[in-house]
Amino acid sequence: MRLRRGWVTRLGKAGQTPQCSLILVAAALLCLFTFPTALSAKHRSTTKSSPSDMEEETRQRLREHGWWPTRGDAARHEYAGSAACAACHEIESASQPGTSMAHAAEPANDSVVLRNAPLLSSQPGDPSPFQTTIRREAHGSEYTVVRGGYAMRGQLLWAMGAGTMGQTYIVDADGTLYEAHRTYFSEIKGLDPTPGQSDKLTENMEEAFGHPLAATDAASCFACHTLQSSVKGQFDPARALPGVGCESCHGPGAKHVRAMQNNQLDEGLRAIFTPSSLSPVEKNDFCGACHRAPLDVVAIKAFLPINVRFQPYRLSHSRCWSKPDARLTCVACHNPHEEVRHETSFYDARCLACHRSRDDERASATATVAACKVADHQCTSCHMPKYRVPSMHGSFTDHDIRIVRAGEPFPL
Ligand code: HEC
Ligand code: HEC
Ligand code: HEC
Ligand code: HEC
Ligand code: HEC
Ligand code: HEC
Ligand code: HEC
Repeated sequence: MRLRRGWVTRLGKAGQTPQCSLILVAAALLCLFTFPTALSAKHRSTTKSSPSDMEEETRQRLREHGWWPTRGDAARHEYAGSAACAACHEIESASQPGTSMAHAAEPANDSVVLRNAPLLSSQPGDPSPFQTTIRREAHGSEYTVVRGGYAMRGQLLWAMGAGTMGQTYIVDADGTLYEAHRTYFSEIKGLDPTPGQSDKLTENMEEAFGHPLAATDAASCFACHTLQSSVKGQFDPARALPGVGCESCHGPGAKHVRAMQNNQLDEGLRAIFTPSSLSPVEKNDFCGACHRAPLDVVAIKAFLPINVRFQPYRLSHSRCWSKPDARLTCVACHNPHEEVRHETSFYDARCLACHRSRDDERASATATVAACKVADHQCTSCHMPKYRVPSMHGSFTDHDIRIVRAGEPFPL
C-alpha cells in the first residue's frame, strides 16, 4: 500500500482502548508539517567502517551487480518455481507456503476473503455519495461504483495482501489498471477507504472508483507482492505468480537446481543467493527491499506517523542498533520461512543475547549490555509497544526498541 496519510495512536496495555486520540491527532498534524527537516535531522546513519556497513536505498542496491529482492531483469526460464525447491529443502518448503508473505497476493478469483463474502458494499455509515459494491460472479468479481443513474464498472484482477489487516484490489476498467478506492478490512469485515488514497469526499466518479496505477507504481506493487511480475525488465502482471516465494528472496534458481541435480556443488552454490552472508546493515536493507529500508523511508518522505509500518527504519533508530549486530537483524527474531511468532516470551532470549538478565549482574561473555531493573521477561511488551494505525484498522509493533515513558508522543 502506498502510504501518504494517517496517524498512529498508542495502544494501551493489551485490550485497553487507545489513548486520547485528539492529542495524538494534533501531534500527528504537527509531524506532517515538520516532517522533512525533523526526519533528516533525526535519521542517524549507522557506523560506517566498511562499505558493507553502509545503508543504501533500495533503488541504489538494484543498480548494483547481483541479486536483490524486487529485481525483475531475469528471464522467465531462469526461475525454477518454489515447488522445485521442495525436493531438496524440505524444512523451508514445509512452512514457507503457509506464511502471510506467501499469501501476499492472490488472483481475485482465488481470494478467500471474496469467497467468504461474495457481496461487499459500502459501510452503512459511509459518507461518500458513491455506493461501492464488490460482487462475486461465476466468471469473476465485479467492482461497481454507482451514483444516481451513473455507474463505473471494472473486473477484479488481483487481491493484494493476505488480509491480516486488509486486502486491496487491483481492478481492470476498460484496459486501465486501478487500485480500488475501497479496501476490505478484516477488523470491520467490510469496505473502507484504501490507505494512501484521498479519504476526502469526492464528487468525481473516477476518484471514487480508484487510483489509476502508473506503470512504475503497478510494477513496484507487484514486485513486492508477487513473483516474476517483471521479466527482462518488462512488466507483465498477467503472468505474475502470487505471493512471496523462495525466489523472491533467493533469486532465480533454475541453474542452482540443475547443478545440484548433477551433483555440481560449487557451481550450484554460486548460482543461488543466500542472505546469510550479508552484513547486519545489508540484512536490514535486504528485508527493507519490501519492508522499506531506512534510507527508502527518508527518500519517500512518507507522512511520518505511519512509519511504524517500516520496521527496518524503526529498528535502525533504536539505541540497541547503535552498533549494528547480527543478534538484532530481522532474522534474529523472525525466521523468514515461518509465520511471525505472537508469544511475547519467544522474544526474551533475543534480547538476552545482548542484555544481562536482572539476576545476573556479572556480564557473561556474550550478554554484556545493561540489564533491566524493572523486569526479567516479556521484554517486548514494554519496549516494543504496538501502535494503532486507524487507516489500516489494525496495529503495528514499534521496532524502535526503547524505554517508553507514559504519555510521550510517538517518536519520529
Ligand atoms: C536437487 C536438490 C536441490 C534443489 C532442487 C534445490 N537445492 Fe538449494 N541446495 C542444494 C544443496 C545440496 C545445497 C548445499 C547444501 C546445503 O546448504 O544444504 C543447497 C543450498 C542452497 C542454499 C544455500 C546456499 C549457500 O550458499 O549456502 C540456498 C539459499 C538454496 N539452496 C536455495 C534453493 C532454492 C530457492 C531452490 C529452489 C529454486 C533450491 N535451493 C533448490 C540442493 C538443492
Ligand atoms: C519480496 C518482498 C518481501 C521481502 C524481500 C520480504 N518481505 Fe516480509 N512481507 C512482504 C509482504 C508483501 C508482506 C505482507 C504479507 C501480507 O499480505 O499480509 C510481508 C509480511 C511479513 C511479516 C508479517 C507476517 C504476518 O504475520 O503478518 C514478517 C514478520 C515479515 N514479512 C518478515 C520479513 C523478513 C524478516 C524479511 C527479510 C528476511 C522479509 N520479510 C522480506 C514482502 C516481503
Ligand atoms: C516496497 C514494497 C511494497 C509495495 C510497492 C507495496 N507493498 Fe503492500 N505491503 C508491503 C509489505 C512489506 C507489507 C506488510 C507490512 C505492512 O502492512 O506495511 C504490505 C502490506 C500490504 C497490505 C496489508 C496486508 C495484510 O495482510 O493486512 C495490503 C492490502 C497491501 N500491502 C496492498 C498493496 C497494494 C495494492 C500495493 C500497490 C498498489 C502495494 N501494497 C505496494 C510491501 C509493499
Ligand atoms: C522473505 C525472504 C525469504 C523467503 C521467501 C525464503 N527465504 Fe530462504 N532464507 C532467507 C534468509 C534471509 C536466509 C538467511 C537466514 C539467516 O541468515 O539466518 C535464508 C536461508 C535459507 C537457506 C539456508 C541458507 C544458508 O546459508 O544456510 C535455505 C536452504 C533456504 N533459505 C531455502 C529457502 C526455500 C526453499 C524457500 C522457499 C520455500 C525460501 N528459502 C524462502 C530468506 C528467505
Ligand atoms: C528483537 C526482535 C525483533 C527484531 C530484530 C525484528 N522484529 Fe519484527 N517483530 C518483533 C515482535 C515482538 C513483533 C510482534 C509479534 C506479535 O506480537 O505478533 C514483530 C512483528 C513484525 C511484523 C508484523 C507486523 C507488526 O508490526 O506487528 C513484521 C512485518 C516484522 N516484525 C518485520 C520485521 C523486520 C522487517 C525486521 C528487520 C528490520 C524485524 N521485524 C526485526 C520482534 C522483532
Ligand atoms: C545486538 C545486541 C542487542 C540486542 C539483541 C538488544 N539490545 Fe537493547 N541495547 C543494546 C545496546 C548496545 C544498547 C545501548 C546501551 C548503552 O548505550 O548503554 C541497548 C539499549 C537498550 C535500552 C535502553 C534504550 C534507551 O533509550 O536508553 C533498552 C530499553 C533495550 N536496549 C531493550 C532491549 C530489548 C527489549 C531487546 C529485545 C527486544 C533488546 N534491547 C535487544 C544492544 C542490544
Ligand atoms: C513492565 C515493563 C518492562 C518489562 C517487561 C521490561 N522492561 Fe526494561 N525497562 C522498563 C522501564 C520502565 C525502564 C526504565 C527504568 C528507569 O530507568 O526508569 C526499563 C529499562 C530498561 C533498560 C535500560 C537499563 C539502563 O539502566 O540503562 C534496558 C536495557 C531494558 N529495560 C531491557 C529490558 C529487557 C532485556 C527486558 C526483558 C528481559 C525488559 N527490559 C523487560 C520496563 C520494562
